[in-house]
Amino acid sequence: MERKTIRLLFVAILLLFSSVELSASGSEEIEHSGANITDTASLQRGAKWFMNYCLSCHSVSYMRYNRMAQDLGLSEEMVMENLVFADAKFGDTMEISMRPDHAESWFGNTPPDLSLIGRSRGADWIFAYLRGFYMDETGGWNNTVLPNVSMPHVLWRLQGIQQAVYKTETGESGYSREVFDHFEMVSPGVQTAEEYKETARDIAAFLEYVGEPAKLQRKGVGVWVILFLALFAFLAYLLKAEFWRDIH
Ligand code: HEC
Repeated sequence: MERKTIRLLFVAILLLFSSVELSASGSEEIEHSGANITDTASLQRGAKWFMNYCLSCHSVSYMRYNRMAQDLGLSEEMVMENLVFADAKFGDTMEISMRPDHAESWFGNTPPDLSLIGRSRGADWIFAYLRGFYMDETGGWNNTVLPNVSMPHVLWRLQGIQQAVYKTETGESGYSREVFDHFEMVSPGVQTAEEYKETARDIAAFLEYVGEPAKLQRKGVGVWVILFLALFAFLAYLLKAEFWRDIH
């Protein structure tokens, strides 16, 4: 009888842990980015790429430099010397140096603020988007994830220039159409394919973090809550055993 209860308790705890795993795995449709916001080194690299390649057009107005420094374990000096290019102060939010109306007339579209992109699109989407740029027949940039995008491929020096190769697919009705098959690298960049994947993953992780900074703390707290619950269940069980000992 008692052993059975203990076994049940263990099963309950295991289930608790496995459900946490399941909810973290997400959708299977696009390639899993492997972005991990608890990997501080990855977030730091992502922040560096972002400040160098993205902040010129995209603001992140929900995020302040000092908050980021604190969360990513960076000192004020490190941030101000290596990551802040505009004349911003440590306590400022991350704004662009370009005027939005200029950006609009140059690109036809205002580059959106990316504070919440990690939440609305998700890290996997950003990972795919940053790897989906290619040069089309007109010699302009296009993107398989966001067709006819007006953002240029700002990371092309890292990734290189790729072209999209299509294949003809014939449907059941006999109607055939061209569908994207794979990319062909026509001019390699300074990073290998694997290194560029890592870069895209780091940026995706950084944007996921930016979208919900409290997630870092929540993930840390979650483990303690589960441990506490497990310990509490165990104590409650001991207490119950103690109460019932004389009655049996
Ligand atoms: C030269 C300016 C410029 C730079 C630099 C730039 N972008 Fe963009 N970005 C744009 C513009 C313009 C759009 C709007 C595209 C559209 O809707 O056609 C855009 C759109 C996006 C979107 C899609 C938003 C959505 O859901 O529609 C993402 C994500 C994004 N950029 C991420 C980045 C990242 C990450 C970097 C740095 C690696 C970057 N951008 C650098 C101009 C820029």
